[in-house]
Amino acid sequence: MNQPLPFIVIVGATSTIAVHCARAWLHRQSASVVLLGRDRERLDAVAEDLRIRSPLSRIDVLVGDFDSAASIHRLVNKVSALGAPDRVLIAHGALLDQAACQQDLSQAEASLRINAISPVLFAEAFAGLMERAGQGTLGIIGSVAGDRGRQSNYIYGAAKGLVERYAEGLQHRMAKAGAVKVVLIKPGPTDTPMTARMEPRPPALADPASVAEAIVQGMRRGQRVVYAPAKWRWIMLVVRSLPSALFHRLSI
Ligand SMILES: NC(=O)c1ccc[n+]([C@@H]2O[C@H](COP(=O)([O-])OP(=O)(O)OC[C@H]3O[C@@H](n4cnc5c(N)ncnc54)[C@H](OP(=O)(O)O)[C@@H]3O)[C@@H](O)[C@H]2O)c1
Repeated sequence: MNQPLPFIVIVGATSTIAVHCARAWLHRQSASVVLLGRDRERLDAVAEDLRIRSPLSRIDVLVGDFDSAASIHRLVNKVSALGAPDRVLIAHGALLDQAACQQDLSQAEASLRINAISPVLFAEAFAGLMERAGQGTLGIIGSVAGDRGRQSNYIYGAAKGLVERYAEGLQHRMAKAGAVKVVLIKPGPTDTPMTARMEPRPPALADPASVAEAIVQGMRRGQRVVYAPAKWRWIMLVVRSLPSALFHRLSI
């Protein structure tokens, strides 16, 4: 008898890192995949690329407003009609300019909503679905920026820090039953459209395919926290350990 295809859901599926995760998963095995995003044309382009790479996979696209709890609820309900996911990756995010966030509270609000509230609402809705099914792995992308507040990006960093506290609590909730794994992913600076306009440009941007590979492996193992690339675990350990008197003298 044929095994059912693994069911994978990718939220923010046009993200460069997410596209590379999808390619890596489908390179290993055909799957039934639902791509969620805000822009149908861009999602269709990702879906077409994946269908060509993996003709035996089934790729569906769902479009909705990521900035509304009601819309997120509707999107997750539509997914649940297809079954309980084996894997969910929550990948969307936006790096709004820190200076603009300081000058204009609506920019700060937009950053907090898209980088914290929206991913947490998606995770919460999918966590309930997976908990009821008694299985699955939920990956949520935070950032090394959430590890310590820095002058250059602390609104974005605060949002990613919220995602970390949320993931920690969800891991605690899921730990007793042990059936649902929650994986917090913290990429370092990576070469995607998100970093293309950063000034100054970070010196060593990671390749999104290698970041995706770390995510795929970390989710397979059900790791609690995945730094991608792995060296960022040690870099951020040092950054977090710096005494404030020294840290406050740095322009980072
Ligand atoms: N690149 C890095 O250096 C880096 C480092 C640490 C963490 N991260 C995190 O990694 C994740 C993926 O980022 P990436 O580098 O792959 O970025 P990316 O290629 O620029 O993709 C960003 C994604 O977020 C979606 N998005 C942005 N604003 C949105 C909104 N208001 N509503 C709905 N969707 C929205 C985009 O959708 P559209 O295609 O429709 O615009 C796209 O899918 C993000 O959570 C990011 O914060 C990235």
